[in-house]
Amino acid sequence: MKDVCILGIETSCDETAAAVVVNGREVKSDRIASQIDIHTIYGGVVPEIASRKHVEKITGVVGLAMKDAGVQASDIDAVAVTYGPGLVGALLVGVSFAKALSFAWKKELIGVHHIEGHICANFIEYPSLTPPFLCLVASGGHSHLVHVREYGVYEIIGQTRDDAAGEAFDKVARVLGLGYPGGPAIDRAAREGNAEAFSFPQAKIPDAPYDFSFSGLKSTVLNLVNRMRMQDLARREEASQAELPVADLAASFQKAVVDVLCTHTMEAAREYDCAKIAIAGGVASNTALRAALSAACEAEGKDFYAPKPLLCTDNAAMIASAAYFSYLAPALSQDAPTRRAGLDLNACPNLSLGTRERRFHG
Ligand code: KG4
Ligand code: ZN
Repeated sequence: MKDVCILGIETSCDETAAAVVVNGREVKSDRIASQIDIHTIYGGVVPEIASRKHVEKITGVVGLAMKDAGVQASDIDAVAVTYGPGLVGALLVGVSFAKALSFAWKKELIGVHHIEGHICANFIEYPSLTPPFLCLVASGGHSHLVHVREYGVYEIIGQTRDDAAGEAFDKVARVLGLGYPGGPAIDRAAREGNAEAFSFPQAKIPDAPYDFSFSGLKSTVLNLVNRMRMQDLARREEASQAELPVADLAASFQKAVVDVLCTHTMEAAREYDCAKIAIAGGVASNTALRAALSAACEAEGKDFYAPKPLLCTDNAAMIASAAYFSYLAPALSQDAPTRRAGLDLNACPNLSLGTRERRFHG
């Protein structure tokens, strides 16, 4: 079969990214222009600034991705772009740019679901990985347990009821004074801390054993930190002198998140009889989560797949990879929806993925 070369574009949040990927697994180039520096000033992503930065960067980033890959427009089979979920203004920049390229170059346009992209990062890291497998997707905007039945066929078996895991990391990091983005900062601070120092709650949702809830945990940590600050203040009179056991708080919070992600994933793998477990999304770069899931998989004789951190956080290679499997549909999988799009493709900030079924057996 002829090679399929796809240009992927990703602008759903605060990274302007473009990549060229052949046959969904072979990365020819992978460019990411991060906006972290500017959003750090505000302690989180400012949507309007994100959109403006994407507009500034996109032409250069796409040009560099093409140049790094050593390809011309004539070598590209399709242009793929994230069209949701995400920040609407940010998504629109990538979608408009991809539509313009598809029109000018007379190439197919493929709209990609952002979470599908995260899952497909595993196909890049592990060229021999094939469905079915279970994937834990944990990022700044999502926490999903997805049963990947076939290429492009996703069954969501659990998701967060409130905050995403990454969002909880970011908010707890902010109150601990660790800055943005919070996940990597907590990951680092936790290495020096005692994970047993504080016991934080882990939410269980009746009738939905694989759903997550992180807002209670987040509020417990925030309230505890505020109480500690007040007590310290009353003792010392000077707020600037307040000292928090930051490393212990970070380690204990991280343990609570990792335990719940790990327990739900292993329980779902047992019920759905999955021999392969993959992780994806920014939180999948967390060292404690990787270690815990790797150990649990080893103990239960399951194969564990964890893409390198650069493929876990937002990038465009994963978008081009997901687009390849959609490009081949329905030849590859009868049930996969084709996401080939027309020039009426729009940004969908709340786009959903797959079906939601609580029970698979019986
Ligand atoms: O997948 P991603 O780059 O963007 C979204 O789709 O949201 O994920 C970003 C999230 C942020 O919340 C960030 O704090 C978190 O992933 N993150 C981490 C780590 N690295 C990034 N969380 C925990 N530990 C990490 N090492
Ligand atoms: Zn993401």
